[in-house]
Amino acid sequence: MSEPRPSDDELLTLADAVAARAYAPYSKLLVGCAVLARDGRVIEGVNVENAAYPLGVCAERTAFARAVAEGYRPGDFVVAAITASPCGGCRQWLHEMGVERVVFRNGGRVVAMTTEELLPESFDSSNLG
Ligand code: THU
Repeated sequence: MSEPRPSDDELLTLADAVAARAYAPYSKLLVGCAVLARDGRVIEGVNVENAAYPLGVCAERTAFARAVAEGYRPGDFVVAAITASPCGGCRQWLHEMGVERVVFRNGGRVVAMTTEELLPESFDSSNLG
């Protein structure tokens, strides 16, 4: 028998826990991301900063880069749970990866949105020209 899928709340709890492993000595903002793949696996990411500030990487991107390196592809993802509202660049990543639902904390609230709601009229390879 396969394991039951984690709920959105459980994924957010996983994202909260993994945020403790963030490397964010400059902003001191620890961000975690837990992505549920269609096969039931959860792939986690954290933000990784650098003394050269613009080189830092967001939690969402480390999660998806890790997933792709393990063989996952756009369309393989059901939910991305994030401990903070995703930045503009990460909304583009979430769109590229074709995640069905994005769940995140924003202030005291928990918000669930589609990537289309997060990034309307988005850029992708089909709308050039
Ligand atoms: N951060 C993320 O990890 N994800 C986002 O979507 C927003 C911002 C990180 C990047 C940086 O290490 C810190 O939060 C402060 O901007």
